[in-house]
Amino acid sequence: VKEELTLEEIQKNGFPHFMLKEIYEQPKIIQTVTNNYLNGNSASELKELFKDINRVYFIGCGTAYYAGLAAGALMEKYFPQEVKNMVASEFRYSEAKVDEHSLVIVISQSGETADTLAALRLAKKRGAKTIGIINVLGSTIAREVDKVFYTLTGPEIAVASTKAYTGQVLTLLYLLHYLAHLESRIGEEKYRAFINAAQQLPGQVTMMLDAISKVEDIAKKYQAVTHFFFIGRQLDYYSTLEGALKLKEIAYIPSESYPAGELKHGPLAMIDEKTLVVALANNDNLMMKMESNIREVKSRGAKVLLISTSRQLTEVSDDFLQIPETEEYLIPILVNVYQQLLAYQMAKLLSRDIDKPRNLAKSVTVE
Ligand code: G6P
Repeated sequence: VKEELTLEEIQKNGFPHFMLKEIYEQPKIIQTVTNNYLNGNSASELKELFKDINRVYFIGCGTAYYAGLAAGALMEKYFPQEVKNMVASEFRYSEAKVDEHSLVIVISQSGETADTLAALRLAKKRGAKTIGIINVLGSTIAREVDKVFYTLTGPEIAVASTKAYTGQVLTLLYLLHYLAHLESRIGEEKYRAFINAAQQLPGQVTMMLDAISKVEDIAKKYQAVTHFFFIGRQLDYYSTLEGALKLKEIAYIPSESYPAGELKHGPLAMIDEKTLVVALANNDNLMMKMESNIREVKSRGAKVLLISTSRQLTEVSDDFLQIPETEEYLIPILVNVYQQLLAYQMAKLLSRDIDKPRNLAKSVTVE
């Protein structure tokens, strides 16, 4: 006798958790964002918003803040404006120099986060122009910004954000590339290379998701680990922040992210054989630096999971997850797919309440 499905089971579409369902929706979401932003139809408005701007803030909370870091790195490289990333709860009480020459980009899945909303209102009060990178249509923040760009990732039910990050980063990358191209800050070739790489993403993410059993094996192998360190440099460092956050949120495993070069200034003392170091190495120029950081932690007994586009450091690592070849600024999206799967598998092994982790809420509408 077939039991009737509950509404929740129907919504989960055969997946055991909303989080896993949402992780698997990413190839489709990437396609949606591409369809929506590829033609750059909002770019003229964007150009207008950037007029007379000398400082750009990326503001958000949690995962949304980390998406802003990834986009901010691109902005810093190609644009003349000063770039600042701030968590909303700090920005709202800070002495940040926000004025009519500032553009404040607030990023929020729900569009209702209290701190982000307060940050937006403060920015507006000080005369800044504002942009929202928002998922929920018609949400409070979406209504209050000067210009909203929707990420169109569909409802995200799991408390831990996954697909929203991908939507936020990709939307911002499309907008910034388009603007950079329009203002001749990047050439045709660079622009095309980004577009082509973005079009490869859905297939690449699908391929990575097909390797979930490999991530599961890695999670099983390191089940007894008591402490995670995520290390990386530059853009990879920003990705480590999201990797460590996911593990904390859903697996409740102490995990820290560190710029790889900073380990020696303290945290190295914590490293022992019960530590797993997740090393992100996706910057060719910094491979040798990452190699010495990996050796540094291994000689203190840690195990190393390498996540890299290159096989160069596999010899010095214990496990390896390969990132498909792509453009530099798209790497955080790919790295994060593995990080999401890793956190998910660890949380599953520990029988955590994956979709509703203890003490957390999906949308934090009070301070
Ligand atoms: C909560 C959620 C996080 C999310 C953060 C910001 O803490 O648990 O997953 O990243 O809020 O939410 P927002 O809706 O503003 O993106």
